[in-house]
Order: sequence, then structure tokens, then C-alpha cells
Amino acid sequence: MKLCMIGTGYVGLVSGVCFSDLGNEVICVDKDQDKINNLKQGIIPIYEPGLEELVLKNYKNKRLKFSTNLSNSIKKSDIVFICVGTPTKKNSTGADLSQIFSVAKEISKSINKFKIIITKSTVPVTTGDEIEKILSKKVNKNKFSVASNPEFLREGEAIRDFIYPDRVVIGSNDKKSATKLRNLYSPLISKGAKFISTNRRAAELIKYASNAFLATKITFINEIANLCEKAQIDVEDISIGIGLDKRIGSRFLRAGPAYGGSCFPKDTKAIVNTADKFKINLSVIKSVINSNSLRSKLLLKKVNEILNKKIRNKNICFLGVTFKANTDDMRDSSSLEMIPFLSKKGAQIKYYDPTGFKKEFSNLKNVNFANSIGEAVKGSDLVILHTEWNDFKSINFKKLHSSKNLKIYDMRNIYSPLKIKSQGFKYFGIGR
Ligand code: UDX
Repeated sequence: MKLCMIGTGYVGLVSGVCFSDLGNEVICVDKDQDKINNLKQGIIPIYEPGLEELVLKNYKNKRLKFSTNLSNSIKKSDIVFICVGTPTKKNSTGADLSQIFSVAKEISKSINKFKIIITKSTVPVTTGDEIEKILSKKVNKNKFSVASNPEFLREGEAIRDFIYPDRVVIGSNDKKSATKLRNLYSPLISKGAKFISTNRRAAELIKYASNAFLATKITFINEIANLCEKAQIDVEDISIGIGLDKRIGSRFLRAGPAYGGSCFPKDTKAIVNTADKFKINLSVIKSVINSNSLRSKLLLKKVNEILNKKIRNKNICFLGVTFKANTDDMRDSSSLEMIPFLSKKGAQIKYYDPTGFKKEFSNLKNVNFANSIGEAVKGSDLVILHTEWNDFKSINFKKLHSSKNLKIYDMRNIYSPLKIKSQGFKYFGIGR
């Protein structure tokens, strides 16, 4: 099939490349000329394991093309995916849909034959209806169909998540288009992915409800971890103990810092905003947002206790600063709250992240990037394991640090407390 992906951000690029790898002809369009020039040379704008190889392979065999010419790309395609950003609006909690609507206007000028227009971007319920209205102003209704096909790609696992999805959701109010889209996904469905066909608004809501539910699960275990810490229970036992109940499920029950990234913080706010418009109070999700927003302060309070209320001039090392492992993404990472706070309190901070220096910390006092784990840990009073990179899972602290006074705050519960204690260091985890 001939596809056009509008927007070569995370969703558009990964999905476009994977669709081309499944044998489709795909044009990835972006208005950013530099980005497109780079992609043509195999320079990938994001850090995502496996993506570069797939781009090079499919660009070489000409199934994958890159362009800045939106109109031509739409004209050449049968299926057009809208994959532009829907960030949180300034001074509001709702999603900013300006890019979606401006793309819809552009599409309306370039419909030369029947096309299915699909939102892959995360969009609030009724956005598909709005897109339909925009298109109808210029084009006859029998020339297009608007559908919703939300993505469930995790950063760092995006290619795997695309190829082996738990489910493919298509929301369409028109049966013919739903069948066509099912065919597009048939290579994945034949490998076991479940296919769900709903109306358009339901598909839009499935995406938000999924992310809000996962954020709730994480926040739930984080609060249980707070209780465990006081009651001398290991939260890891609780995660296993409740997760084995199939009705609960074991995934997304890892207690840790506040959840972050480009989706959960933004989508939880946006679903509440949408519900408000329908005069519905999503009190559970509101409470999740609130709990998560307080989590970094809670963990910083613990840092203060670990350092016996003397943060000034203490050498603190952060291992990992991204919001999770296998990504260079800093969006809504809890390190963005923790490091500036500790720097303001007079700590000397060194951080190491496998994805390198972060401009976000460049203007902070006494915050420096270290070139290796060893350099970061050396001379520290406290090591904070902030992100669960594999690189940090078997550090020999004894080799890197001579003083027994080293304290380790393992915010991802990577290490066995007993093992660290047996090496003579002080260990602190989350909910244990
Ligand atoms: C998420 C969704 O998982 C994906 O389906 C959606 O399409 C985009 O948003 P992503 O933001 O890449 O993906 O990261 P994810 O792996 O879901 O983690 C989000 C946050 O939750 C991270 O801060 C992570 O550290 C945290 N998390 C996750 C936990 O604290 N505990 C867990 O058990 C799982």
C-alpha cells in the first residue's frame, strides 16, 4: 500500500519505517528540511535501538522515502497518517491541536482520489470529528474517510512494540476503511496481534484510558512503596505478590521516581481536561496526577534524611538522568526537578548518562557531566541510581570507591540491599 506519514517525530518515523519494512511504499514528510536531509543520509534524529538499521535498509531498497513536499506526498498516497505533536497547551491542561488542524487543512487541498486519513498522534475524543469538518469544507465526503489508529510504542522498545503489539486498534465509522486498515496490519495480526475495530471516538479514548491506567498502576505501587518503607516491608515482594494475580498483572508495578516521559504526564492531564468538557469528574486520574507531582519532593526529602540534613557541599552522583532507560529523552524526567533542587541547596553534583551530556543542566551551579560511571562515582558521598540502564546493573562499587562512607540511593531497586550492605556501603531503596 502507498502510505504517507506526516511528521517524522517519534511516532511517525518509527511507524513509517516499520510499515516500509512490512513491504509498503512509505513517504515520511516533515517541514524541517535539515531533519529530512539528515534522514536521507541515515542520520536519525532520535535515540532508538534498531531504528538506524531499519531506516538504512528500507531507504536503500527505495520502499522508504523522505520529503518536505507535503502536497505531493499526500497526492501519491492512499493512506495518510497524521503523526504530528499534540503537546500540552500553554497555560492549560488540554492538548494543543494546532498542528493537527493545520495539517488537516493542508490535506484538504491535496485530495486527488479517495484517501483514508488517520490520526496516529494522541488526540482527544472528537478530534476526528473536527478533522472531518475541516476536510468537508473543501472535499466531497465520498473522497475521504477519517479514522483513528492510536500507537502504543514505548521509547526504547518502539520497534519491538510495533512488530509485536498486544493489540492493533482501529477506530473508524466506515466499514470499508476499517477493512482496508485491517489488511495493512495483517502481517502483524497473522503473527498473533489482536485486532480491535471500534468507532472513531472509542479508539481515541482507548489511547488516553490506556496511558491513564498505566500511570495509575505506577502511582499506586509508588504509594504502596511509601507504606512499605515505614512498615519494613520490601515493595518488590508486594509487586510480585499482587502481580501474579492475572486480574492485576505484573507489568508496570515497578516502584520508583515519579513517572515521566512524553506521554503519561501530558495524557493524564489531557484526559481530565476532555472529561471536564463533558462535565465528568475523573477524580482517580486527578489524584494520580497530584500524587505523581509530589513524588520528587518526597524522594528529595529522603535524600535530605540520608545525608543527615546536610546537603550543602555534599558530593552527589546521579547515575542516569533520562526519564527511563534506552532513550535520550529528558521530557518530564524527575531528574529535572531533583538536580536543580540539590544544586540550589549547595550540593556538588556529577551525573553520568549513557546518552551523554544534557543541556538542561548546563546553567546550573556545581553540576557537571562525568565521562564514565567511574568518574561520576569517584569521591561521592551519595550515589543516586536514577535510571535503570543495564550499564548500572552490575557496578562494583568497591572497585570504584574506597570510602566505606559511601551511601547508595537506588531509586530503581536494581541492587540487592544485602549485597550492597555486605560490601560495607549504606543502601537505601524505594519501598524497602
Ligand atoms: C508510554 C506508553 O507505555 C506507550 O504505550 C505510549 O504509547 C507512550 O507512553 P513511554 O513514555 O515510552 O511509553 O514509557 P514507559 O515505558 O511507559 O514509562 C513511562 C514512565 O513510567 C517512565 O518514567 C518509567 O520509568 C515509569 N515506569 C514504568 C515506572 O515507574 N514503573 C513501571 O513499572 C513502568
